[in-house]
Amino acid sequence: MSRRAVIQSIGHALPTKVLTNADLETMVDTNDEWIVQRTGIRERRVCEGPIECTGWLALNASREAIDRAGIDPLDIGLVLCGTVSGDFIWPSTACMVQDQVGAKNAGAFDVSAACAGFIYALSNAAAMVVTGQVDHALVIGVDSLSKQVNWEDRSTAILFGDGAGAVVVSAMDDSETDRGLLGTVLLSDGSGSKFICIDVGGSRYPWGSEQAEGKRNKITMMGSEVYRFAVQSMGDACCKVLDKVGMTPDEIDLFVPHQANLRIIESSAKRLGLPPEKVFLNVHKYGNTSAGSIPLGLYEAEAEGRLKKGMTVLTVGFGAGLVWGANVIRW
Ligand code: UT7
Repeated sequence: MSRRAVIQSIGHALPTKVLTNADLETMVDTNDEWIVQRTGIRERRVCEGPIECTGWLALNASREAIDRAGIDPLDIGLVLCGTVSGDFIWPSTACMVQDQVGAKNAGAFDVSAACAGFIYALSNAAAMVVTGQVDHALVIGVDSLSKQVNWEDRSTAILFGDGAGAVVVSAMDDSETDRGLLGTVLLSDGSGSKFICIDVGGSRYPWGSEQAEGKRNKITMMGSEVYRFAVQSMGDACCKVLDKVGMTPDEIDLFVPHQANLRIIESSAKRLGLPPEKVFLNVHKYGNTSAGSIPLGLYEAEAEGRLKKGMTVLTVGFGAGLVWGANVIRW
């Protein structure tokens, strides 16, 4: 008898404030045509006011996932939150969610893997579930990078939005189901750390310190380097994970990639030979929501009836680190 890590339910959260390309035209030297052509993004959601932040999004997504699973929060053994924009440097956002959903018997920690945060967190939670360390895990992917963007830098201000998704992952017996996480690939290359980063606020360049002077305290990015890395790494991770689970791309029912840029997604889909109807897209509505992107995609795909129980879904993400990875899930 062996255990499988099955996604029982999914929740999501988005801020209500919409920031369109036309709004951005009034803030930086850009235009709708350039943004749509280069990225596919038309609008994004951004947190506003004192309440809306990463923890708030994470909590709302988690509550929806827990309600839909119909699970007692006391049965959750682990809360993992993929994020790089936690409410505080520490304590973790996962601990705040753990408290507020009443998961009193759970361990909780954040997973720092930028836009691949949900891929990494799900993979780790599933390993804990499959090996019998916990029976139920709450896994969140969330970011509010609007708080970390330099709104005067047109090369990054147009890209990011805020959002969250959360899933309840539960142990099921192999003999009862063929659903669950089928395989995972996690990869990294720290030599590319300078391609996308925030320098100030950690222990090397603390806020307000002499060392921090002249350093970057908002997101800075070398766009074309990240673009090249993304195109290569997304395709590589997909091929590796499919190889690992012994599947070919035509066995994939739905592809839910990290929604950073339409052109990057199209190039991965092309490499895999996937037709457009198998590729989920919402980058035009939300931009790059970092760790929120993949679970938000899964949520919307399910809500639209494009992702049903028993279907095989391929997810893939890449981000600052550099990190990248992919999961194959039987939904
Ligand atoms: O999860 C990881 C997050 N990061 C990413 O996914 C980013 C990956 N990279 C990209 O998506 C693309 O590199 C961008 C969308 C950021 C940029 O597209 P690009 O085709 O690589 O443009 P570029 O950086 O080579 O810039 C081309 C031109 C430049 O002007 P010149 O030097 O040719 O005169 C830029 O100054 O476009 C200019 N430009 C803009 N123009 C209008 C850069 N940003 C903008 C803008 N509006 N927002």
